[in-house]
Amino acid sequence: MKEELLSLEKEVSQKVDAVQDLKDLAEIKVYVFGKNGVITNLSKGMRDVEPNQRKEVGMLINDLRNKLENKIQEKEKLLEEKLLNEKLESEKIDITQPGKDCKVGALHPTSDVIDKLTDICVNMGFSVVEGPEIETDYYNFEAMNIPKNHPSRDMQDTFFITNEILLRSQTSAVQAREMEKRKPPFKIVCPGKTYRNDSDATHSPVFHQLEGLVVDENISMADLKSMLLTLMKRLYGEDTVIRFRPSFFPFTEPSIEVDLTCPTCHGKGCSICKGTGMLELLGAGIVNPKVLEMSGIDSKKYRGFAFGFGLDRAGMLLNNISNIKSLFKNDIRFLEQMKGER
Ligand code: DAH
Repeated sequence: MKEELLSLEKEVSQKVDAVQDLKDLAEIKVYVFGKNGVITNLSKGMRDVEPNQRKEVGMLINDLRNKLENKIQEKEKLLEEKLLNEKLESEKIDITQPGKDCKVGALHPTSDVIDKLTDICVNMGFSVVEGPEIETDYYNFEAMNIPKNHPSRDMQDTFFITNEILLRSQTSAVQAREMEKRKPPFKIVCPGKTYRNDSDATHSPVFHQLEGLVVDENISMADLKSMLLTLMKRLYGEDTVIRFRPSFFPFTEPSIEVDLTCPTCHGKGCSICKGTGMLELLGAGIVNPKVLEMSGIDSKKYRGFAFGFGLDRAGMLLNNISNIKSLFKNDIRFLEQMKGER
């Protein structure tokens, strides 16, 4: 019996020594300790051993089981370590290799100026709102004091879907929508797309505007001026100066157009401002009391000021772009150049 166990120990030891991977080792485990394994069978055979020898034989078998278990465990550890080392070796990263080029995107100049302007406005206490691009004639024109067949509609010929539904020609359309919803005092800005039946070197049929509306008691032109000056300084720099010129819009009275020192030459005169040092950027004014009344706001108690920017122009000035068409071409070479320090 002893010899039989010894030769079994030798046989299994040799097998374990020879084994090269965990899968083969698992097979040996089954061969030794499995349901029909050699050790299992030996234990089962204890029944046939003479009772007076059982203790000794039992100890021998136990001894062998422990030895083989240890042997297999050791080998298992060794093989696991080997596997780990191989894995580490094969997955090693050479940190001295040059990095892979990672493509960084850039914001479109119009998105850039929308982000910057809305940020500035939010800091000044404005809420940012949106309105539909497909608008009714009522909100786009009538509620803005531009009745049907009024000559001032000529300034804003747009695309009609039906007689009453159109692509909004101005973000001013959100003014009435917000006035109907809100209770004064409130301050809102609305950036978005606008449409007009215009297409030439300086006009695109789709363009962007930012509308601002403040309704409160005791609003005056001075409030409008100081707010616009702060806004322009924050966007284009502290040395920016603004100039008001009288103008006409049906929804404001009085109405003004606002020029600012050319951000490219800082007022010295350059090709962008055609040597004048100033650029026209927005329309504004004190909200016509009729417009307030139409949207359910008591014009005896409240007044408002409003302004509307051309965002494409504003973004061009911010990014030194001279041709408005480049904004709409989606030419990747142009957009690539927008990767500045942001
Ligand atoms: N909606 C005008 C336009 O598209 C711009 C404008 C002028 C907006 C005066 C205003 C404003 O809010 O007060 O030409």
